[in-house]
Amino acid sequence: MTTPNNPGTSSPFSSVILILDFGSQYTQLIARRIREFNVFSVVLPCTTPLEKILAYHPAGIILSGGPSSVYDTNAPRADKAILDIGLPILGICYGLQFITHHLGGRVAPAAAREYGYAEVTVVEQTPLFGGLPATMPVWMSHGDHAEMLAPGFRVVARTPNAVAGIADEARRIWAVQFHPEVAHTRQGTELLRNFVVEICGARQDWTPEHFIASTVARIREQVGPHGHAICGLSGGVDSSVAAVLVARAIGSRLTCIFVNNGVLRKDEFEKVQRTMREELHLNVVAVDASERFLARLAGVTDPEQKRKAIGGEFIAVFDDEAGKIVDAGHSANEEVGWLVQGTLYPDVIESASVHGPSHVIKSHHNVGGLPADMKLKLIEPLRDLFKDEVRRIGRDLQMPEEILERQPFPGPGLAVRILGEVTPERVAILQEADAICTAEIKRAGLYRKLWQSFAVLLPVKTVGVMGDQRTYAYTCAIRAVESEDGMTADWAALPYEVLRTISSRIVSEVRGINRVVYDITSKPPGTIEWE
Ligand code: XMP
Repeated sequence: MTTPNNPGTSSPFSSVILILDFGSQYTQLIARRIREFNVFSVVLPCTTPLEKILAYHPAGIILSGGPSSVYDTNAPRADKAILDIGLPILGICYGLQFITHHLGGRVAPAAAREYGYAEVTVVEQTPLFGGLPATMPVWMSHGDHAEMLAPGFRVVARTPNAVAGIADEARRIWAVQFHPEVAHTRQGTELLRNFVVEICGARQDWTPEHFIASTVARIREQVGPHGHAICGLSGGVDSSVAAVLVARAIGSRLTCIFVNNGVLRKDEFEKVQRTMREELHLNVVAVDASERFLARLAGVTDPEQKRKAIGGEFIAVFDDEAGKIVDAGHSANEEVGWLVQGTLYPDVIESASVHGPSHVIKSHHNVGGLPADMKLKLIEPLRDLFKDEVRRIGRDLQMPEEILERQPFPGPGLAVRILGEVTPERVAILQEADAICTAEIKRAGLYRKLWQSFAVLLPVKTVGVMGDQRTYAYTCAIRAVESEDGMTADWAALPYEVLRTISSRIVSEVRGINRVVYDITSKPPGTIEWE
C-alpha cells in the first residue's frame, strides 16, 4: 500500500487513479464512476508536469477524451513520457488518438464521424473486456480515428466503421474510442472496473468510513492540540458537513458563525441554530445582522448591486465576529489560526482544468471568503468530493436528512427573488409565500426530486377580487426546476393539483399577493434565479 505525499489533494488514500483531462465534457464522470467502486481518483489538467503526476504514486492513468484533433495547433498537450513509465494506461476517445499519434501510429479524420450509439464487437480477448459480452452498445463521439496503429498494438474491438479498442498488453496500454464513463455505454462501469481493479490492482477501500477517519486524523494533526478554527455556516449541506468533520477532530475548538442577513427563509435563522446546536452539537455564534443588511439594501434594485451589497456586508460582519473570536483566543493564550470552508471538488477542478474555468462561475456564489487581513489558514475537508459524496459522508456522520437533502439556496437569499427593492415588508411577504410553496412540494413528495423549487416576488401589482372586495396586490411566480448540477435545468412539469394548491393557499393566506403564475423557462436560455 502506498500513501503518497500528495501535493494536489488533501485526502490520504491507499490507491489513486489519475485522470488527465484533455477537455472532454465527460472527464468528471470518469472520476465519479471510479469512486463509485470505492477507488479514489483525481482529475488533473493534461499539462500537469510528470514529476507532479508521479508524486501521486498512481496505480494507473486514464487519458480522457477531448474535443480537439491531435493535429490541431491548439491541441491540448501532455508529456508523452507518461507513455513510457510502465504504469497501466487507459486512453478514452482523444486518449486513444493521443496514444496512437505519439507512439508512431497515424490518426486521420474518420470517413464517417460517429456521434451517439454504436455497436461494438470484441474481436480479441484482453483483460479490459474481461467478462463483457461479445457485442455491446456504446456511446461514441469522435471525428478522428486510428488509421494505422502504433507498433505493438492490436485491434481488440471494432464498430462497423472504426477501431473501437486497442491494446499493447506488454506495455500495459489500452484504449477505447467510445466513452465507457457515460450511462449510455451500459457495460462501461464494468470496463472501467476491469481497468482499475483487475489491471491496475487498485484497492477498493476509499469508503466513507475511510474518508472520515483519515480526514479527521489529518485535521487533528494540522490544527494541533491547542489550535482553534472558525467556520461560516450557511445552513446548507456543504458547510454543515465540513463543520461536523472538523468538530469531530477538534471538538469545541471549532466555532461556527451563522449570520442572519435579513433575507433568509421563514424561521430559518432560529431553525438552523437549533439543528446545529442540538442535533449536530456545534459551537455556534449566531449573529442577527438583518437590520444592517436591510439598511444597506434600501433603494437598491439592480441585481448585481444587491449581490455586492450583501457580499460586502457579509464579509464585514464575518470579519467583526471572527475578530472577536481571535481576540478572545489571544487573551486565553490560544491560537485561532484556521478557517473552515466547504469548497467542493468541481470548484477545484474547474479552476485547474485545461481550459481554465470551463463555465463562468459567478464570483458572488462564493459568499464569505477569507477575511483579507486576518491571516487564517484554510481547512477544506471536502475539496476532494462531489456533492453526492458529501451527502454520503453526511449520512455516515449520522447527520439529519433534512440538512443533507436541502435544495441549494443562494448566498444573497431572498434578495435575488424579490425583484425591485428589498424592503422588510416584501421580505415578509415572500417568506410566507415561499414557506407555502416548500411545504406543498414536500407534501407531494417532490422536494428531493427537484433541484430547486421556490417563490419569486414580482414588482407587479394586478387587480383581483376577494369576497366583495377589489384587491390590488403583488404577483408571485413559482419556479421549480430539475437539474444535475445547476448549470443547465429544465422547468419541472409539476402536477396541476400541486400547482392548484400552492396557488390557492398563497392567494388566500398571504396578505399582499393576489395572483400566482408558473415559470416555464428552462436554463438556458433562462437562469434558475430571476435575478
Ligand atoms: P442561476 O440563477 O445562475 O443559478 O441559473 C444557478 C445556481 O446558482 C445559485 N445561485 C447563487 N448561489 N449566490 C449563490 O450562492 C448567488 O448569487 C447565486 N445566484 C444563483 C442558484 O440558486 C442555482 O442553484
